[in-house]
Amino acid sequence: MSELKTKHLLGIKDLSEKEIHLIFETADDFKDVLNRPIKKVPSLRDVTVANVFFENSTRTRLSFELAEKRLSADVINFSSSSSSVKKGETLLDTVNNILAMKVDMVVMRHSSPGAPHFLAKHIKANIINAGDGTHEHPTQALLDTFSIREKFGDVAGKKVVIVGDILHSRVALSNIFALQKLGAEVMVCGPATLLPKHIREIGVKVELDIKKALEWCDIANVLRIQLERQRMSYFPSLREYSLYYGINKKLLDSLNKEITIMHPGPINRGIELTSDVADSDHSIILQQVENGVAVRMAILFLLAGTRT
Ligand code: CP
Repeated sequence: MSELKTKHLLGIKDLSEKEIHLIFETADDFKDVLNRPIKKVPSLRDVTVANVFFENSTRTRLSFELAEKRLSADVINFSSSSSSVKKGETLLDTVNNILAMKVDMVVMRHSSPGAPHFLAKHIKANIINAGDGTHEHPTQALLDTFSIREKFGDVAGKKVVIVGDILHSRVALSNIFALQKLGAEVMVCGPATLLPKHIREIGVKVELDIKKALEWCDIANVLRIQLERQRMSYFPSLREYSLYYGINKKLLDSLNKEITIMHPGPINRGIELTSDVADSDHSIILQQVENGVAVRMAILFLLAGTRT
């Protein structure tokens, strides 16, 4: 396989296992480019990309912008907080006005699940979902699984536990789909109130005891408690959450094995992870960020190849 069948990247659900491997192999080549003294290729020099962010972001926005610049694309950045959205302009009007400036690809983050799917029905440009509400964050899942493949050689057969606020997490859903397509076993672990009621129906194991979950897994992908999306109190206090589900060195030292720690960021230090875990040799958190640029270069490059 040498090209993607899909013109947009809206969710992991739309990708086949072969397409994910194609993204990984392309990202391997771009990672080599990023390790050269001159970290730039001319692949997208005829392409203009708009990064359209209706929600806050550090990693995803900067990683996309760097990926686009490394591919020699022209880049414009839009942030809703300083835009005419504040004057009442709609999503479609906003994006159509950006496209009128001859933009070819739109990378969009939005707080509403389905916002990029809506756009894809109404505009011609390629759309990349950079996170839509509590729904999907496909590029995060691709960089996470790429990082597992880099560390272990293969994703197939690995046991991955996703820990924490599964209910509000787009990273969790995209990771579950990607890991399953690549043949990993997936478990979720967290307080029952933060686990979707029917999560077992999509083929994941459920464990409420963090120690048992860590004893089971090869890799723990630890999620942020998303206080900004929680409309009610799902646990008594952050202190209690940290006591029962926080991962610290003492807990890791008590296991009969070594496990790899991942986190998509931003980390609430001292709540879901202590610093001695986040910054330890077991953590691949900064490798995830580094790999994000190569993986996003691969996605932009492959989607640009579907343009007619
Ligand atoms: N992982 C992630 O999506 O981080 P940002 O919100 O900073 O983009």
